[in-house]
Amino acid sequence: MSAREVTTTSVGIVGGGPAGLMLSHLLARRGIDSVVVDHRSRDEIEQTVRAGILEADSVRLLSETGVSERVLSEGDRHGGTYLAFGGELHHIDFQELAGASVWLYPQTEVFVDLADARAAAGADVRFGVGDTSVHDVTGERPSIRFTDADGSAHEIRCRYLVGADGSHSLCRHAIPPSEIRQYRKEYPFAWFGILCEAPKSAPELIYNHSDRGFALISQRTETTQRMYFQCDPDEDVDAWSDDRIWSELQARVGANGHELTEGPITGKSVLRFRSNVVEPMRYGNMVLAGDAAHTVPPTGAKGLNLALADVRVLAETLERALTDRDDDALDEYSRRALDRVWRSQHFSYWMTSMLHRPLAADEFDLRRQVAELHSVVRSTAGKTYLAEAYTGWPSG
Ligand code: DHB
Repeated sequence: MSAREVTTTSVGIVGGGPAGLMLSHLLARRGIDSVVVDHRSRDEIEQTVRAGILEADSVRLLSETGVSERVLSEGDRHGGTYLAFGGELHHIDFQELAGASVWLYPQTEVFVDLADARAAAGADVRFGVGDTSVHDVTGERPSIRFTDADGSAHEIRCRYLVGADGSHSLCRHAIPPSEIRQYRKEYPFAWFGILCEAPKSAPELIYNHSDRGFALISQRTETTQRMYFQCDPDEDVDAWSDDRIWSELQARVGANGHELTEGPITGKSVLRFRSNVVEPMRYGNMVLAGDAAHTVPPTGAKGLNLALADVRVLAETLERALTDRDDDALDEYSRRALDRVWRSQHFSYWMTSMLHRPLAADEFDLRRQVAELHSVVRSTAGKTYLAEAYTGWPSG
């Protein structure tokens, strides 16, 4: 067997999605070197359809660090959103209530912007690696081993290792179960997601409650739209023709007096979801960030926003750990990140349970949900909570 080629760096990052790349970008701005590896190719990551909403602070982070050119020119600033229920559309004005906006900008494009920025800076980012494993994570010199496309063996030796490798995280699986606690929540629903070629059906997003189940009307561009409707986790995509999808979506939004502009459907998929939190987000000299440490249900689009909030705190605490030789800074990362993670879990759970048709729902359940939604939109305090949580709590 040929010898491993060894690279030494301060921070080794497993996962080249938005969390891993943003961390590498933020560390570079602090003068800290890192190496990023990902088993997926750049193309593969770019083909993944993800949510489309960026919180105010996520956009601020992109702006402050010089990667906001496209989000600001091509993204769509939304100063509010609609809640549709009880036969009507209700507007929640984020600007008025929370003094903030969100941006509709596909999260895949955030990946493209970050990948371009890292490439332009000559960063060491290796996509498409194989046989990745992590070693000595509790020691002074943790390492990542992998093979490149030619089958040659490599090792990245670092001071700190970061698992930003998504919900199936190999880094998380490398932690002995007795060293962490995992909190999980299963939901008895999933989303049927479509992409279609049609003009926008609304100027902002519509979160739609109906007796038939939840629907979300989102957008991508002037000519491409993204919509979802609540379905069974075992729903068969092939059982849904375009006609059947449109009639289901129209029935759900029609219950609240809205009508969608239809067009050819170019993508269909079922998204299953659950809540998951790992505590602490540190094991020895390895930390977890983004989906590797926590997943949320999609209602409210918190996933990527949480990942970016994680790495903002992580860059700061890693700098302290490296310059002051203070490993305890990693505990502070976990504490600070988890505070936001749990609040986002609550928000995503709340939005999900308020808007989705419960399993075996009866008239009582549906009327109670409509009453809850009325309580939110008729109260300035209720609407303000939603606006603050949706646009994102200030990082601090
Ligand atoms: C989108 C996804 C979400 O989960 C959400 O809450 C809002 C928008 C989207 O894909 O556009």
